[in-house]
Amino acid sequence: MRARLKHAAMFAYGRCRALRPEKLRFRGAFASFDEAMAHVRPGMLAGYDHDSVTSVSRELMQQVPLWDYPILYWLKRLAPEISRVVDAGGHIGVKYRGFAPYLDLDRLEWIVYDLPALVKAGREQVRPQDRTLSFVERIEDAPAGDVLLASGLLPYLNEPFVDLVRRLRAPPRHILLNKVVTRDGPTVVTLENFGMAEVPYQIRSAEEIPAALKTLGYGIIDSWTIDSLAHRIETHPHLGRAVYRGYAARLL
Ligand SMILES: C[S@@+](CC[C@H](N)C(=O)[O-])C[C@H]1O[C@@H](n2cnc3c(N)ncnc32)[C@H](O)[C@@H]1O
Repeated sequence: MRARLKHAAMFAYGRCRALRPEKLRFRGAFASFDEAMAHVRPGMLAGYDHDSVTSVSRELMQQVPLWDYPILYWLKRLAPEISRVVDAGGHIGVKYRGFAPYLDLDRLEWIVYDLPALVKAGREQVRPQDRTLSFVERIEDAPAGDVLLASGLLPYLNEPFVDLVRRLRAPPRHILLNKVVTRDGPTVVTLENFGMAEVPYQIRSAEEIPAALKTLGYGIIDSWTIDSLAHRIETHPHLGRAVYRGYAARLL
């Protein structure tokens, strides 16, 4: 009875929050990426692939917050055996720039795969010191890498992760994933408010990525949660908390 009342109160609270969508970071709960896209508010850009979206959170993403340290740990630990990273959803090279003080990037080729608007912005913003950074618009065009890094990509990726990995030229020995947003229960797609755009944002079933890694033939050798990023969809708090996770996996 108490649980039901709590659920009803949260539901009602969410309905009230939905009245001011412009004030919210996350709104709506949809069954698919396409359904979320179809509900973008009129006058807003839809999705990530727009020139004006490329500067959203750019400075923030170039920093190294606490939740990047597991990735940095694994890249450092693997450094003697890797020479090429494919950074899927690598934006304009934000993690390459952020990790530069900690990794010997001159001996690590770093290929960012991202959407066309981001690749264009990334190429325009390359600095003289970005000697080993390059960009591709199709993951198939990246040379075979030792590591597939996908940090912050999974909420936005509009294809099954298994399909993305299978489009690589060769399976990388290592996969490092960060900021995989998950929940107990089926995958839900919400809309993230970027100010000028609304972007479908997938909160995946917690089993999905471990199952995908197993299907691809990888064993998870490390995993973590990022408790400081946990949140609820403001309009649908009754759907529970979104838990941010990371994984290091090795080809078996
Ligand atoms: C939040 S940013 C992550 C940036 C950085 N990797 C980080 O961890 O801070 C998400 C990135 O995923 C990219 N993205 C979204 N959908 C994509 C897709 N289908 N293929 C490749 N990149 C995609 C976006 O363009 C954006 O650069």
